[in-house]
Amino acid sequence: MHWSRFGERFTRPTGARELMEDLGAALAGEPPVAMLGGGNPAQVPGMADFFRARFAAVLADDREFRRMVGDYADPAGEVGFRRAIAGLLRREYGFAVDAGNVALTAGSQHGFFLLFNLLAGQYPDGERRILLPLVPEYVGYADVGIDGELFVARRPRIEHLPGRRFKYRVDFAALEDATRLAAICVSRPTNPSGNVLTDDEIDRLRALARRHGVPLIIDGAYGVPFPGIVSVPATPAWDEDTVLLLSLSKLGLPGVRTGIVVARPEIVRALGAVTAVTSLAAGSVGPVLMREPAETGELTRLAREVVGPWYRERAVAALGWLDAALAGCEYHVHVPEGAFFLWLWLPQLTIPSRELYRRLKARGVLVLSGHHFFPGLGDDPWPHREQCLRISYASDPASVQRGLAILAEEVRAAHA
Ligand SMILES: Cc1ncc(COP(=O)(O)O)c(C=O)c1O
Repeated sequence: MHWSRFGERFTRPTGARELMEDLGAALAGEPPVAMLGGGNPAQVPGMADFFRARFAAVLADDREFRRMVGDYADPAGEVGFRRAIAGLLRREYGFAVDAGNVALTAGSQHGFFLLFNLLAGQYPDGERRILLPLVPEYVGYADVGIDGELFVARRPRIEHLPGRRFKYRVDFAALEDATRLAAICVSRPTNPSGNVLTDDEIDRLRALARRHGVPLIIDGAYGVPFPGIVSVPATPAWDEDTVLLLSLSKLGLPGVRTGIVVARPEIVRALGAVTAVTSLAAGSVGPVLMREPAETGELTRLAREVVGPWYRERAVAALGWLDAALAGCEYHVHVPEGAFFLWLWLPQLTIPSRELYRRLKARGVLVLSGHHFFPGLGDDPWPHREQCLRISYASDPASVQRGLAILAEEVRAAHA
């Protein structure tokens, strides 16, 4: 079989592919001892019943059912839901937006693929890249460039905190020399570290983006206003120079593939234009299902009162088990401020993190090797890149605890 350059590029092994294949194999076959790998959300009590009731309401309504499955939507997404999301953002945060500021995509991952390729890559006067002001950053950005590498990244400052905790901070001095930018992008909370950039860091990044005349892209897949998996104050920010990406996935609906892009109308129209060519329209299942909860405020109430508190409780438990299992070892954990991962740093690891990943997989414990999460850093020989693991605590507590105990055994063996 001969593949084009595009074919070669998009069929090669990538971090996202390894992660999704592990997840697919785990769900399809013999279950692993502990699934601490992919980004699958948890079965949060009450949420499945809520979604089931919503589906029943749509099925019972001829017009709604037709909108959900019987009509193509507008290329920029189902208009009723776009209006409802804009209304929610106006009402709850005072954003000056309407439906023309909202585009829908087949999951926010697809939104990033479109947006990054619309902005970064080859220009008549040379190449422009997206600045990741701090890595580790989301593995899913790494391989989406049609034209090749789309990112340039900087190491963070590491702040050590009591009790074997640490926190990444944006190193603003290191951003000064960045040139020929297409955009600046951060996930907030950050996948994999659970870091939440402070309001001050976001304000300074907005100012930097403005100086370069490029948008600041904020990935809110776990953040505010929904699904609200955050445990520290984080004010949502938006203006015409900001692009905010949201998703229904981490609320518990990854299967409906609904991503939401809040941006200036020019960007919304561009996303709609590419969607029309590549897939005619984004799906309407998620939008029709969640339009009414977005209109009534039920969507953000569930995020605040159900989803957020549930994950916060799980984070505390998982961190307690990890600390107990690793007692006596040399390790640090990033303060879990949001999302549903523990980011473990093992500065005395004698093997690369990808080898530790393989040893754990052989014992039925799936995690993610940290080396995937440094897109845009090129061949920077920073040892930290091979000393970290991402551990999801979204699966059932007993298997998280079991998996952490096995992980600690392998860490001790790798330290010996
Ligand atoms: C930080 C981050 N952004 C975006 C996505 C994409 O999610 P989806 O395409 O399901 O909206 C994920 C998924 O895990 C993520 O972790």
